[in-house]
Amino acid sequence: MRAPTHSRIQELSLDEQAVYRQLDAAKIPRHAAIIMDGNGRWAGKRMLKRFLGHQQGAESVQYVVETASRIDLPWLTLYAFSLENNLRRPKAEVNFLMKLLKSYLVGNVKRMNDNNVRMAYIGRIHELPAEVQDTMQWASEATAKNTGTTLTLALNYGARSELVDAMRLAVREAIAASAGDPELLQTLIAGLDEHHISRQLYTAAMPDPDLVIRTSGEQRISNFLLWQIAYAEIFVTDRLWPDFRGIHLLEAIADFQRRERRYGGLGDSFTDENLEAHHAGDAAELVRR
Ligand code: FPP
Repeated sequence: MRAPTHSRIQELSLDEQAVYRQLDAAKIPRHAAIIMDGNGRWAGKRMLKRFLGHQQGAESVQYVVETASRIDLPWLTLYAFSLENNLRRPKAEVNFLMKLLKSYLVGNVKRMNDNNVRMAYIGRIHELPAEVQDTMQWASEATAKNTGTTLTLALNYGARSELVDAMRLAVREAIAASAGDPELLQTLIAGLDEHHISRQLYTAAMPDPDLVIRTSGEQRISNFLLWQIAYAEIFVTDRLWPDFRGIHLLEAIADFQRRERRYGGLGDSFTDENLEAHHAGDAAELVRR
């Protein structure tokens, strides 16, 4: 169990504290990942331009990150900009999102440091505009010594392209290790397993998410962390991202803690011993019928 050296629960709002009290502090997820959706709809409902929805969405990011850091959530990953967003959205919107990201980083690094938050990124970062990459690097260096929540922004990210990148690395590694020996190459390729692939993903240094949250009601994964969420619990809320706050993260965690995670097994109530008893009970029930 993680024991925070200094509890920051008192920094939660009173409403957040009320939800937090329902939680089992020992069962806070290690990693929560959020598909932030609904910025455009939030703006549309108010007859505002989509840009304003994104701007408000950036405010939500900071509220949620700070609540995450106060409850000592080790890993928080936010889907901020997908490869598909980059390819399929109007250039003006993509440019606005890039500017918003830069100003978000410049404006919030101090608050990240005040909250002991370390910043990281996943995605095809090298394809982003050079000045955005510079600001991203500056923000990650400026927060690198922090030891609390790691906030990972998925930017120009797509899970299938992440898998393609990982396969390429794994194959290249095998070719280099085989040093031109075709038989050794065959053996190395036959030996490739899930751990080899995991090690080549952008997320190699992180645990897999336990909980995936999606806002705005869509029941889709949208090419987000496909490999890593194999056993994650999924929580969908109708709330639009610009209306999402720390308290809603806590409510999602409360829901998560009520679930029984089975990882393909049968759960704690079924052991080899009591499975016999279950079967005996079924048999007795059949005889009674
Ligand atoms: C989905 O809303 C959200 C995005 C495409 C990007 C997420 C960006 C932010 C939350 C703001 C900036 C983030 C940071 C880290 C500064 P949508 O436009 O798809 O909404 P819609 O489905 O209602 O149109």
